[in-house]
Amino acid sequence: MSARIIDGKKLSAQIKEDVAQRVQALQQKHGIQAGLTVVLVGEDPASQVYVRNKGLACEAAGLKSEIIRLPADTTETKLLALITRLNQDSSVHGILVQLPLPAHLDEHKVIETIAPHKDVDGFHVSNAGMLMTGKPLFAPCTPYGVMKMLESENVTLRGAEAVIVGASNIVGKPMAMLLLAAGATVTLCNSKTRDLAAQTRRADVLVAAVGRPGIITGDMVKPGAVVIDVGINRGADGKLCGDVDFASASAVASAITPVPGGVGPMTIAMLLVNTLEAAERSANISL
Ligand code: GUN
Repeated sequence: MSARIIDGKKLSAQIKEDVAQRVQALQQKHGIQAGLTVVLVGEDPASQVYVRNKGLACEAAGLKSEIIRLPADTTETKLLALITRLNQDSSVHGILVQLPLPAHLDEHKVIETIAPHKDVDGFHVSNAGMLMTGKPLFAPCTPYGVMKMLESENVTLRGAEAVIVGASNIVGKPMAMLLLAAGATVTLCNSKTRDLAAQTRRADVLVAAVGRPGIITGDMVKPGAVVIDVGINRGADGKLCGDVDFASASAVASAITPVPGGVGPMTIAMLLVNTLEAAERSANISL
């Protein structure tokens, strides 16, 4: 069997097109230009690329985009004051602080300072709690994008066995909540999982979100499974690769996401959706 490729680039382009139309409608009907402010502290090279791509995607969809770059030695007091100012700025609908932050900054404290209704990453404890209790305000962008991919492929989630490898706050845990809400039976594996292959081989839907190149090989995939690769790693050859060994897994799976061109573009598309929805909500509030 050779798996169908789930094209994240194509699906994300459709979503961004829809966002662009809604952005225009919001502007025309309410005079509101949806706006995202991204804060980048320090010079992490990968973060610089991600932040630039987020800004470009915003502009292409007609959103106002501001990137605030701060030096690596920025104090916590200064960063928190900036976030407080952005919370109060009505032209800013979404605030995103790019992670990871330099070690001297308390990530948790920084995220908790963002107003929950502007937290387009969905990382604030209030948003994590809303997601857990089945009433999400913002779903975190990467797992939200994965759900859109599964939906576009008409993957049956009700009653399905879903196995997630990687239990981060950004991907694994919210992914588990979204799949659970869709009716899947969810297993969330972590670095201590005793027999990882025994878990992954049960999966109708397998999500790999570890950050280790090729940790999932074809022999760990159930024949006919849908495989979602969230990993973005730099392989020994310098090329981008995922957590899934694509060649062996695609021979067994029924559908699979590639890296690049899979989940990555979806994350940015869902960030635009979340920002637009924050702006739309602000319009309703002020009516
Ligand atoms: N760093 C890696 N992924 C993300 C993300 O989705 N949001 C933020 N804020 N930082 C990240």
